Amino acid sequence: LYIGVDLGTSSVKLLLMDEKGTIRNIVTKEYPISFPKPGWSEQNPADWFSSLMEGLKELVGDGEKKEVGGISFSGQMHGMVILDEEDRVIRPAILWNDGRTKEECDYLNETIGREKISSYTGNMALTGFTAPKLLWVKKHEPDNFRKIRKVMLPKDYIAYCLSGVHSTDVSDASGMLLFNVKEKCWSKEMLELAGLKEEQMAKVYESYEVTGTLRADIAKELGFPPECKVIAGGGDQAVAAVGTGTVGSGMCNVSLGTSGVVFVASKEYSEIKDNALHVFAHADGRYHFMGVMLSAAASNKWWMDEVLKTREYAKEQQAIVELGKNNVYFLPYLMGERTPHNDPDARGTFVGMTMDTTREDMTQAVLEGVAFALKDSFEIIKDTGLSIKRIRINGGGAKSPLWCRIIANVLNVKVDKINSEEGPAFGAAILAAVGCKEFASVEEAAAKLIQVTETTEPEEEIVNLYEKKYNVFKEIYPALEPVYK
Ligand code: XUL
Repeated sequence: LYIGVDLGTSSVKLLLMDEKGTIRNIVTKEYPISFPKPGWSEQNPADWFSSLMEGLKELVGDGEKKEVGGISFSGQMHGMVILDEEDRVIRPAILWNDGRTKEECDYLNETIGREKISSYTGNMALTGFTAPKLLWVKKHEPDNFRKIRKVMLPKDYIAYCLSGVHSTDVSDASGMLLFNVKEKCWSKEMLELAGLKEEQMAKVYESYEVTGTLRADIAKELGFPPECKVIAGGGDQAVAAVGTGTVGSGMCNVSLGTSGVVFVASKEYSEIKDNALHVFAHADGRYHFMGVMLSAAASNKWWMDEVLKTREYAKEQQAIVELGKNNVYFLPYLMGERTPHNDPDARGTFVGMTMDTTREDMTQAVLEGVAFALKDSFEIIKDTGLSIKRIRINGGGAKSPLWCRIIANVLNVKVDKINSEEGPAFGAAILAAVGCKEFASVEEAAAKLIQVTETTEPEEEIVNLYEKKYNVFKEIYPALEPVYK
């Protein structure tokens, strides 16, 4: 049996899978998040570990415990966990969605220079990434900075608590801005800029590699075999992609969760012009590109819960039948935007209402606005020369057939749904199974375990109408940018 752990921002989800890929059980445990100042976001790593242990005890039945062969992870990315010389956590973790590092990012992108940072790492500095957080601690909490013996990422910290090994993996390390993504090694230049030495970083593995076994006391407490393997795992986007079978080359997954992600697997490393997409190592041993929009399903949730004050998502969408003819536009920048604008000041905006605009037109505009914003990332991917004719879709928003149809027509691709909705936790269990040699490779596991169950086809007439609408959509942000400042 294999366990996949998805260490998220609000909860940890654990999934138990057997050798055939059948899901036996799923357990979720929530933990708090704190916002000590506006725009700051922190969590206590001890909460992750206690929730993990509680969850593991519930996940596996007494009769199954001795059969647990391996455990692996999907983790919220970019978070900074710092340990002292006795491996104690020095301060709360600063998370991926914490925005306190604007000054540090300006220093890296402007004073040092975006081209240089990108030549060291493959990416430019963004507030969410780990290196700017370390620079922030160095400046504002010098005593804490001096105490650092190891810099860890969230999922690597809980893996350390289980195995006693300081390890990380290539996909999650890619999001630190301390890692040379192309060469898959720590960047000497970036470590120097951050005031760190390589000994302070964890050893890097491929996501499906074994890093150790359970500590004897942990194995005893859980009732698992002490030879139970711990497998590196990866960043949540890469592992979710494993869970949807988005591996190998040219496969594309769109995640319609709180945030929206267009993720493309690639066998080769490639530089992306203007750093418009992230270029990271993939959990299948290769690379991936991704565009991240910050409010995807979150935009619809805001519109439904906060404005329309209804939970009847399907009913609200029933009346929407005509696609490509809506004159209302919505810019889904409720939390600013990462790809393509990289603008924390951008805001959600409706444009184009008239006296006959209806509630349905506005609901439709929200769904279409998210699809157009995904197309922004999709167009940049096409610029790399990759031709993508079909995508897989997952996340809460994918439950809406209307939204899938809008996306198929806006992106002009076939949209596939697959047999599992458990992206990251399932992906982590697959990595555990590959690490334990149940499958020869991540690609082989994905091909055997993941099937397409439903496809939405683009419709030529609607595709053409949406093409025109997208050209209008593209004009709106540049026109409004000065207003957002
Ligand atoms: C990826 C990203 C999110 C976080 C939180 O770049 O910021 O996926 O990992 O889930």
